[in-house]
Amino acid sequence: MELVILDTPEAIAERAADAIEELLTAKPDAVLGTATGSSPLPLYDELTRRCEAGRISFARVTGFMLDEYVGLPEGHPERYATFMERHLRSRVDMRPGALHGPDALNPDLQAACEAYEAAMAAAGYCDLQILGIGADGHIGFNEPGGPLDSATHIDVLTEQTRRDNARFFDGDIDAVPTHCITQGLGTIMKARKLVLIATGENKAEAVRQLVEGEVSPQWPATVMQNHADALVLVDPAAASLLT
Ligand code: F6R
Repeated sequence: MELVILDTPEAIAERAADAIEELLTAKPDAVLGTATGSSPLPLYDELTRRCEAGRISFARVTGFMLDEYVGLPEGHPERYATFMERHLRSRVDMRPGALHGPDALNPDLQAACEAYEAAMAAAGYCDLQILGIGADGHIGFNEPGGPLDSATHIDVLTEQTRRDNARFFDGDIDAVPTHCITQGLGTIMKARKLVLIATGENKAEAVRQLVEGEVSPQWPATVMQNHADALVLVDPAAASLLT
């Protein structure tokens, strides 16, 4: 695992965009794993700028989202499919329909999980997976305590995650869904490269565990220590508890 501490979210975005530019230059039809939440937003801005400048193209890219809330209706602004359409897909030259997500509107959620894992397997899994990290150490929505080799599954969001994400729901924790479908840790680990972005002091303990802790289901992101090509990009606040 390579750890890089950079001064600003913009510098982190540039470093992450460099990795994606390198991938798309070598493999224009790459499979890209996308994350939602606030951490990758400067990266999506930077990718948009590079696409507009003609440096990169997503025309042949296939995307797979990490996760999706259960219980939000089609078109809800915080549904992750809507979020990704707004922040990336519609801003670059990615084909409509090329960015896939778990079908959390399917009444048979277990079937939706299996179909999503099968679709990723058929695509050969991700060449590069963008990740954020929860304050409780989750990646995707793999909350603490689950197996480190899981496939796509239904997960229950912790109180902490729902509290953290209430900011996207007008501060109302009761409006934050309780369940989600997420790529499993095993799914995420199948990506050829992982790029994790963590900024801000509330990520400091999770980053400390990720970098210095034992690999453990209690801090799910620590599984990344077992990955052959993982890049961790943090700002000084997120790095503040590292020894
Ligand atoms: C997003 C996801 C989550 C977030 C994490 C951090 O698809 O799966 O793991 O990356 O909750 O969220 P932010 O970036 O909003 O702090």
